[in-house]
Amino acid sequence: MSSILPPRVRKRIAGAASRLRRYAGEGWRAVGAIERVAGRHHPVEAIPLRDLRDRHAPGQVDQYWTRHTVNSTPFRAAAESRRYLERRFDEHPRFREMMELYGDHRDGVILDYGCGPGDDVVGFTLHSRAKRIIGMDVSPRALGLTRARLALHGEALGRAELIQTADDATRVPLPDASVDYLHSGGVLHHASDPEGVLRELHRVVKPGGRGCVMVYNQHSVWLHLYTAYTCQIVEGKFAGQSALDAFTHNVDGEDCPLARCYTPDEFLAICRRAGFEAEFVGGYLSRTELDALADRNAAIAHPALAPAHRAFLEELRVDADGLPTYRGFHAGVGGVFRLRRP
Ligand SMILES: C[S@@+](CC[C@H](N)C(=O)[O-])C[C@H]1O[C@@H](n2cnc3c(N)ncnc32)[C@H](O)[C@@H]1O
Repeated sequence: MSSILPPRVRKRIAGAASRLRRYAGEGWRAVGAIERVAGRHHPVEAIPLRDLRDRHAPGQVDQYWTRHTVNSTPFRAAAESRRYLERRFDEHPRFREMMELYGDHRDGVILDYGCGPGDDVVGFTLHSRAKRIIGMDVSPRALGLTRARLALHGEALGRAELIQTADDATRVPLPDASVDYLHSGGVLHHASDPEGVLRELHRVVKPGGRGCVMVYNQHSVWLHLYTAYTCQIVEGKFAGQSALDAFTHNVDGEDCPLARCYTPDEFLAICRRAGFEAEFVGGYLSRTELDALADRNAAIAHPALAPAHRAFLEELRVDADGLPTYRGFHAGVGGVFRLRRP
């Protein structure tokens, strides 16, 4: 947003905003107002958004994710948005390292497939040297939040753009071999045709291009302890359902139409069929899982726990930081896979 104030005055106001930010605690509304006066907010129209909705009737998956977003509170100030990114790393041990956030990506094109309300699009914009960051999602609500958030950050101008797609879209609307780096966190397990999407993502990634994808990990404390024991046995939820069915309803909201949970080998096979070289890195952990671990011994001793869950819990080990591992990999729900297009 251009400001009517002369640069010298704007600089002083911006300095005051940054001092206030240090003391403001949760008083972000005031900080946002000052940033606006200083000309540091931009109109949302400054962030390009390609809307392809008219080509597709929204299906069940699109409708659910239009109603529901992972974080639906709009940010009011750039500093608040930055701080949230740090908090997210604190809440998920190993998340940052495993997902290789944010990397250098100098002059590269990054695609964040299923960007949601924009944490990683904003993070790549602020912390990588990519020349273009594309966020794509089925949810107009999530894209609206991403767009408004990017508008808080001057770094996004001319570099970030957003594309509205649909769950039943058979094409990713980008040219062949146009993307250097693919990022997708917590999306493909919700897609009706994850392998079809991965084939398309393979088409748009350049030969030699890399990627990092998170899908839900079946070898996780979330499935074998939190779902099978805490939710189903202790809380008596999801009676008569398998743990995998219960997982679909306890991970992203009870009405979530689809949330698959893959063994590493299952998802590696899907990536390879889509044409990628792929490697499993491990599962990063959620606070819910770390809290559930206090009940591990009680779960193992409980007669109603199915043998497969007990065997998993008995095989758990801990790393030097006390984080649970299973067969040499971290046992969190965020299963991370590194990809490369040969
Ligand atoms: C759990 S959120 C993750 C958002 C973001 N990647 C993050 O890490 O915070 C899942 C996102 O996937 C999107 N999504 C679901 N199905 C999709 C599909 N078939 N294609 C693209 N995005 C999809 C949803 O709209 C939602 O924003």
